[in-house]
Amino acid sequence: MDEKLTIDPWGSSQSTDYSRIIDQFGLSSLDGLAIENPSRLHRRGIVFAHRELDLILEARRKANPFGVLTGLMPSGKMHLGHSMVIDQVKWFQDSGGDVTIAVADLESNATRGVSLEEGRKVAKEEYVAYYAALGLNPEKTSVYFQSTRNIVQKLGFQLGKRTNLSELEAIYGFDGSTNLAHVQAPLVQAGDILHPQLDEYGGLRPIVVPVGVDQDPHLRLTRGLASKTNWFNVNQAKMGLQVGVSIQEENERKMGIDASGRVNKEIRKDVFSKIVESISNLGFSDIQANPKHGTVNIPSATTRDRGSIKMALLQLERSMGGYGLLSPSSTYHRFAVGMTGDKMSSSKPKTTLFLSDDAKSAEKKIKKSFSGGQATIEEHRRLGGDPDKDVAYQYMMYFFEEDDAFLAEINQGYRSGKILAGEMKQMCIDRACEWLTELSEMKDETAHLVDTFFQ
Ligand code: TRP
Repeated sequence: MDEKLTIDPWGSSQSTDYSRIIDQFGLSSLDGLAIENPSRLHRRGIVFAHRELDLILEARRKANPFGVLTGLMPSGKMHLGHSMVIDQVKWFQDSGGDVTIAVADLESNATRGVSLEEGRKVAKEEYVAYYAALGLNPEKTSVYFQSTRNIVQKLGFQLGKRTNLSELEAIYGFDGSTNLAHVQAPLVQAGDILHPQLDEYGGLRPIVVPVGVDQDPHLRLTRGLASKTNWFNVNQAKMGLQVGVSIQEENERKMGIDASGRVNKEIRKDVFSKIVESISNLGFSDIQANPKHGTVNIPSATTRDRGSIKMALLQLERSMGGYGLLSPSSTYHRFAVGMTGDKMSSSKPKTTLFLSDDAKSAEKKIKKSFSGGQATIEEHRRLGGDPDKDVAYQYMMYFFEEDDAFLAEINQGYRSGKILAGEMKQMCIDRACEWLTELSEMKDETAHLVDTFFQ
């Protein structure tokens, strides 16, 4: 009953017990969040969970800077499942976010045997070509390769110090026989996720990582790593909020510990006056510094002030020579079911629609797709079909039908038996063919933009 789920980002199976995933891994449900101008994926519960998305929504509302980072494995062909991430990236981009996309060429080289050269080609000709066609703005998107962005590898290496094999074992289920590429890949991915907030890449701002839930282990790791580097923590206190100072090997001297381990009062005092100054710049006046205890209290601050205090202290940390890393926010989407009713996978072409599929092969796949209808027409009319299991309906909902009212209508019609399984498939075929044809036209029209994504 209480058996623990593990999420294996490299595995071929994936739990779809989303409420259990939310519970076990401490994700927040999207239900309680007010999202202005929600996308199709938000309205339909396809994006179902998040970590600290509120930070991003607040920046979005206030037109403050925020960034979006995601990554692609440059192996195989781009399919509809991949396009879901890009839909979300575009939504964030359209509401003011800057976009960075990692080509995981190191990861796919090490874990899937794709050469770096091949990875580069696939990224450009397959993935980014479709990103352009799907409407990402090349002027506001920067795509890079893990293998050539030094800072990403360096950051991954340096952050490795803040974790150990036991933690990786607990997060990923590794054991003694685990290939070390699977140890390195998450560290590089942590570098991917954190580097956009470095001063050379846009500076301190909230970064959101939209991913499938299979990638959450990397986010748990990365968030842990980032917070372990922080010099100042902001916690709930009996009254208001309390800042705690975290003394680490890296910052001992700057925090006023001398070589013999004694506290240098002058330096310590100076650190605390800097903290007080940073916080009073935000408008708080009742700040109490306790250098002896290593804490600063702000009785009038509420949890809603936590974000802005945190940001001010990360900025202070940077000015003192630390990383000043903010934990990334993230969102998670459900996986669209494969055409056959099993998992969608690039290596099994029958399970998925590729963005490069033409109308004919799309038609063939949808005709053969797993149906939620009854065995005979007579039974279907009497008992109705199950849209939750019907692949054709699911694909309309996930990908092809924008109109919520129409979707509700065919959902009802299917359930009541008015719409037959073959009719549902035909609707899906019509919409899919239209969608794919349009996409392929767009791909030609936007081909000249592809290089700009890499600048
Ligand atoms: N590991 C991801 C995948 O399997 C690819 C990836 C690399 C990524 N770096 C990332 C995803 C950073 C999100 C954020 O698809």
